[in-house]
Amino acid sequence: MKPVGIFYGSTGGSTLSIAEKIKKALGKEAHLHDISETDVATIQKYDNLIFGTSAWGIGDMQDDWEDFIDSLNEVKYEGKKIAIFGLGDQEEYPESFVDGLGTLYCRLPDKSVVVGEWPKEGYDFYFSTAEKDGKFVGLVIDEHHQADKSDERIKKWAEQLKKAFN
Ligand SMILES: Cc1cc2nc3c(=O)[nH]c(=O)nc-3n(C[C@H](O)[C@H](O)[C@H](O)COP(=O)(O)O)c2cc1C
Repeated sequence: MKPVGIFYGSTGGSTLSIAEKIKKALGKEAHLHDISETDVATIQKYDNLIFGTSAWGIGDMQDDWEDFIDSLNEVKYEGKKIAIFGLGDQEEYPESFVDGLGTLYCRLPDKSVVVGEWPKEGYDFYFSTAEKDGKFVGLVIDEHHQADKSDERIKKWAEQLKKAFN
């Protein structure tokens, strides 16, 4: 597997902590970047990318992703694979569960390079913009109500990505 760039936006630290676990699960090829401290050139140098955001407001991504998102239009996507993950709270926000992930997917300029879809079974919610064709567009983590399931989910997703990535 070629190097993997993991780019996260995290307000309270939960998305950072999950990004760190994903990095560990993928091994030494994976590198962490805070989206508030990066640039297009850094994203461009990876053929394997992971973007992670939490959910805020009405379909909002985490603030630093909101600030950066337009820059994704400057990236050249040929030859790349992108996997995305999102954090949310299915009990407090069951009608907008992980909508930050849904918005991130919606704003990706080239969706043909997206890998790492994730089953929606095992979560309890009414609506999510991150759901597409009966699945989530990426890994979904709820550290508020299913923290005990996070490690297993990350492990499974990382195995999936090792096969899907370049
Ligand atoms: C004001 C506020 C709004 C939120 N809105 C949503 C939401 O619409 N959907 C959701 O699934 N989670 C929502 N959350 C939960 C956060 O996404 C969750 O706490 C996440 O773990 C935060 O991660 P971070 O600290 O890495 O940013 C909200 C939390 C707060 C405090």
